[in-house]
Amino acid sequence: MTNLMNAVGFYHALPLSNPDSFLDLSVPVPEVTGHDLLVEVRAISVNPVDTKQRLVEPKIENQPRILGFDASGIVKKVGPNCTLFAPGDSVFYAGDVTRPGSNSHYQLVDERIVGKKPTQATFAEAAAMPLTSLTAYEALFERLAISKNKLENKGKSILIIAASGGVGSIATQLAKHVGLTVIGTASRPETVKWTKDHGTDIVLNHHQPLQPQLKKYGYDQVSFILCLNNTDAYWETMASMIAPQGKICSIVENESPLELGKLKSKSATFVWEFMFTKAMYQTPDLLSQHDILTTISQLLDQGVIQTTLSETIHPISAATMRQAHRKIESGQMIGKLVLENY
Ligand SMILES: NC(=O)c1ccc[n+]([C@@H]2O[C@H](COP(=O)([O-])OP(=O)(O)OC[C@H]3O[C@@H](n4cnc5c(N)ncnc54)[C@H](OP(=O)(O)O)[C@@H]3O)[C@@H](O)[C@H]2O)c1
Repeated sequence: MTNLMNAVGFYHALPLSNPDSFLDLSVPVPEVTGHDLLVEVRAISVNPVDTKQRLVEPKIENQPRILGFDASGIVKKVGPNCTLFAPGDSVFYAGDVTRPGSNSHYQLVDERIVGKKPTQATFAEAAAMPLTSLTAYEALFERLAISKNKLENKGKSILIIAASGGVGSIATQLAKHVGLTVIGTASRPETVKWTKDHGTDIVLNHHQPLQPQLKKYGYDQVSFILCLNNTDAYWETMASMIAPQGKICSIVENESPLELGKLKSKSATFVWEFMFTKAMYQTPDLLSQHDILTTISQLLDQGVIQTTLSETIHPISAATMRQAHRKIESGQMIGKLVLENY
């Protein structure tokens, strides 16, 4: 291994039409310390967090900003405090938004937020999963506190807003797996088909009022709501559709103050999910992300859930990164987009 590696990064926040918005770079391979693994990255996925972070001007302009928060690859070196992985292991992970990301040939990642790659999945299929699976799993089972016991979920329902996107495609499968009735939103024939194929029982069109559509299926309210799109725009609808003592979780930051009072008479709960909280604040349950990825890996290998990969682009370069960001920014993603190999 030389001490330089290929990476895709940038020095300034620029529109995608500017060729400097992403650059093919050669940067030093980092050294492992502590709990870090040095991973040779084989495939990466692009998420809306990448497009949002790309628009933030990097703080240190003489060092490139390297994004990328979904990867699969092979462990090359382990830090002195590592106990979970060894060189040669195939892994998948989302990583930490406060550190350099996975858009580089080699990357450091804390082993406590890494899982073993599912053996039945290709590197591309595995790279599609970590960020969205961690988000969906934490939202459903930690924030909304949904039981994993099917019997306890009998008669309960969840509304997933934006069910055919990256997070929605895995959230749908996990919610279905634990016995909830899944009501998902999608607006195009291809996204309606995709979400039905991933387990949605009822599909509502998010470009029409949701509650009247749901009433036609005999439901007035839902036990849980997972909001994966514009929280401000869906606030009134969510307050109206949530059942008394129900729970709402959103993963999308609001732009205006949210009127929590609308939930009071129903004693309904509102909770955020942010996938990077555990790594960002080094919470005591940091290792739970290793456990969640281990569970996801097993569920994929057992065929209980399927990869949400919908498209793979080769190779990983500044040009293909711009192509991927354009696609994510369209807001019309179906499942997950992966870039593979340098
Ligand atoms: N807090 C966290 O930890 C966290 C983690 C992951 C993602 N996020 C955020 O969550 C959001 C979703 O992420 P994602 O990766 O699932 O996104 P995504 O894959 O880009 O979502 C695309 C989907 O959004 C649907 N959509 C478009 N306009 C909509 C509307 N007005 N109402 C409802 N759905 C609409 C589209 O469905 P149609 O084509 O059928 O219209 C499309 O399938 C992003 O804002 C992302 O930044 C947060």
